[in-house]
Amino acid sequence: MAAMGCCHYYAPSAGGDDAFSIDVSAITFGAGVLNELGDHARARGIERIALMTDKVLGGLEHVAIARESLIDAGIDVVLYDEVRVEPTDRSFLAAAHFAGEGDFDGFVSVGGGSVIDTCKAANLYSTHPAEFLTYVNAPIGGGQPVPGPLKPHIACPTTSGTGSECTGIAIFDLLAMKAKTGIVSRHLRPTLALVDATCAATLPRNVVAASGFDVLSHALESYTAMAYTKRAAPERPSLRPMSQGANPWSDLGCREALRLLGEYLVRAVEDAGDSEARGQVMWAATLAGIAFGNAGVHAPHGMSYAVAGLVRDFRPEGYPHDAPIVPHGMSVMVNAPSVFRFTASACPQRHLDAAGWLGAETRGAGEEDAAEVLSERLISLMRVTGMPNGITGVGYGEADIPALTEGAYPQRRLLDNAPRPIGKDELNGLFRNALAYW
Ligand SMILES: NC(=O)c1ccc[n+]([C@@H]2O[C@H](COP(=O)([O-])OP(=O)(O)OC[C@H]3O[C@@H](n4cnc5c(N)ncnc54)[C@H](O)[C@@H]3O)[C@@H](O)[C@H]2O)c1
Ligand SMILES: [Fe+2]
Repeated sequence: MAAMGCCHYYAPSAGGDDAFSIDVSAITFGAGVLNELGDHARARGIERIALMTDKVLGGLEHVAIARESLIDAGIDVVLYDEVRVEPTDRSFLAAAHFAGEGDFDGFVSVGGGSVIDTCKAANLYSTHPAEFLTYVNAPIGGGQPVPGPLKPHIACPTTSGTGSECTGIAIFDLLAMKAKTGIVSRHLRPTLALVDATCAATLPRNVVAASGFDVLSHALESYTAMAYTKRAAPERPSLRPMSQGANPWSDLGCREALRLLGEYLVRAVEDAGDSEARGQVMWAATLAGIAFGNAGVHAPHGMSYAVAGLVRDFRPEGYPHDAPIVPHGMSVMVNAPSVFRFTASACPQRHLDAAGWLGAETRGAGEEDAAEVLSERLISLMRVTGMPNGITGVGYGEADIPALTEGAYPQRRLLDNAPRPIGKDELNGLFRNALAYW
């Protein structure tokens, strides 16, 4: 049944693309693999490396293990622990400045998405210097292609979250515009993802929950994205975007990530000592990163950039309290039930399948029930893990909907990857329906 839905989903369409392209990541996954870092770096010819992290992680054992492994391999290591959690253009530039001064021949990031993305930007601007907005996504930035390969970058994620170790994306908050945006290029993809599942043991509960919902939404958005056959064929094959829409390869990672999250997410949030659950969510994060890096996400992420960018005074547990932030996973998830209620009619079987993998009871449910079955499952997972109750839960009210709509509307790369058209009226309705869920 699912397989039939699948074939039908990729039926050819007039003017649509007739192929999909996959960029694979080099991955090493396992408990304790941070100890392998030095050897992997040396095998890539690195002699002097910038080790990037944030202040919290700088005091934990993961960074110490990484550093020791590099030193044991005879590599010159310089530590940079100034990464900002939820980075900005200013913090990206500070890291790029450090990278430009240090005469490095390689980079390693040990941290969550904030650290990995900052390291990508530092590598980019120190290798191919340019005005900051040059490579930033249009229409906010110049959207210029990255001119060529970067220096080797080994990404070691410490959150069970973004999957940034497998993507060619770097996201930041553009302070002047109060909007999140990003840089997207195949050249940004790290040379190696070194995923040590034991890093998850020290994560605060709220970070496991927020970054776990980021993973969940990556998988769900990629699985329900517009089919690649419905996106207009590129002018030249080499211009096929990474955000190419749902495709059979990405479906594999999405399906398994959703199944793992259905089984392990709540356990991983509740018990830091449950190494099985935390390790499996870490694997789900990597799988979803592979999937969405080759398919693209859609509306929950497009809307999240406004939810995060316009933050007023939200300071959640488990995150640094020096500045108000809506952590990425929360800013995404508060929109998700509203969006999937709206998109279900475009591909109901896919929504129903996803609900089942996430642990919902789908026996007896038909396609007309897909919107409710999936959104109710998402809401119940949000409630048991202590997620904010919709956009009200992170500090917004009805009066903020016009500003949120204006902030999200320019995110066309994401919104146009949704399975239904989304203009200003739809965005307005989606935010309205995301105000509160219980
Ligand atoms: N590039 C991509 O493909 C991509 C995808 C999704 C999200 N993102 C971006 O990634 C960022 C979010 O990253 P994140 O969710 O991984 O969290 P994060 O990097 O922002 O870290 C969250 C908090 O957890 C702490 N922390 C991290 N690992 C820890 C550990 N093992 N033990 C204890 N504390 C730990 C950090 O110090 C920080 O305080 C956002 O900026 C988001 O936009 C990027
Ligand atoms: Fe994300």
